[in-house]
Amino acid sequence: MGFLMSDFLPGLEGVAATKSAISYIDGEKGILSYRGYPIETLAANSSFEETTLLLLDGELPSAKELDGFTSDLRSHYRIKYHIREMMRHFPSTGHPMDMLQTAVSSLGMFYPGTECLTNAAVCEDLNYVRNMTVNIIAQMAPLVAMWEHMRQGYDPIEPRQDLSVAENLLYMFTGKEPDPLMAKIMDVCLILHAEHTLNASTFSALVSGSTLATPYSVISGAIGTLSGPLHGGANSYVVDMLKEIGSPKKAEKWIDKRLANKEVIWGMGHREYKVKDPRATILHKLVAELMEDRGGSLDQAFETAMKVEEICAERLGHKGVYPNVDFYSGILYAEMGIPADQFTAIFAVARSAGWLAHWREQISNNRIYRPTQIYTGSGVREYVALAERG
Ligand code: COA
Repeated sequence: MGFLMSDFLPGLEGVAATKSAISYIDGEKGILSYRGYPIETLAANSSFEETTLLLLDGELPSAKELDGFTSDLRSHYRIKYHIREMMRHFPSTGHPMDMLQTAVSSLGMFYPGTECLTNAAVCEDLNYVRNMTVNIIAQMAPLVAMWEHMRQGYDPIEPRQDLSVAENLLYMFTGKEPDPLMAKIMDVCLILHAEHTLNASTFSALVSGSTLATPYSVISGAIGTLSGPLHGGANSYVVDMLKEIGSPKKAEKWIDKRLANKEVIWGMGHREYKVKDPRATILHKLVAELMEDRGGSLDQAFETAMKVEEICAERLGHKGVYPNVDFYSGILYAEMGIPADQFTAIFAVARSAGWLAHWREQISNNRIYRPTQIYTGSGVREYVALAERG
């Protein structure tokens, strides 16, 4: 028994590591669906709360189920006093993703129930699974928004239980009644980022989940994995790039110089999609909606972005490189007054739904992940005593 060198696929590219009924991508056709529902349909008709239930349970909820879930979430927005105290001692220069990973990990110490996972059979205790799921999803956004105030030396703003996850996130960030269009845009952003098949952070959630670690460990591990610049961080680079370009008329020269230097254009290209990312198409429309709402006057960044997209289609379209989800999301978040280093944390708020859906799928039919390796080290060697080494 053994593996041939040819069996080794770096990064497990193309290797089916699990079976999943949660989401589907067709990168050639630009299709993304959650539980069989196209992302466009969900963005147009659903809410983050409803989409979360769809991801978790596999079916669209009834009005009663959605009401119950929504009020459960809202009743868990408040963060325990001791967690806030702990956050008060974090350095104000700490990155929001490090804060979020630490805070979510600490939830495992503040909420009982971890013993349930010592026995695989108890994983089927739906109450336990549901309570943990609600608690984590409800607390992610408040933790992110709280940190924005705390790192500036202020008390955080208390959550409001009359608001949706998206509205409350904006409210806790800004302290103002959320603008309905901005709240709708944030809700759509959360839907679009909630799930995306077996990417690195979701795989990390499966691996941790397969050891029957607590869901807090599962999610904090996934947050850490998402924090890397090859995964969650590109939208803040897009905002910086657009600032650097400055205006639409400077875009062509900037892009040509960058391509000549073999540097990437941020927010362009995707391993899975060879056409425009369907999520970018939806976000692009939201930008247009925002433009109309503002009487046609657009922030310079929006106009520059559209010019960049146009030029990149000419220069990179033949390589299958088009805008990805990060291209427009950063611009929208910046427009909401959210600082760039918080963008990935907001991504994590949304993705907690997908991670937990995969966690549930994993533990309902569990087998611990234990891949193999191809050993490339030396054969058996003789130990040389320290005094005898040259
Ligand atoms: N800007 C310029 N050229 C790009 C590009 C970009 N953003 N993305 C891909 N290309 C080019 C590559 O240079 C390569 O050109 P070549 O065939 O002449 O060598 C070709 O397109 C194929 O790209 P490749 O690197 O093989 O694609 P990939 O699937 O490995 O990479 C990404 C996908 C996301 C890593 C890559 O597109 C990228 O770095 N994008 C910018 C970062 C970003 O926005 N990340 C967020 C992803 S959601």
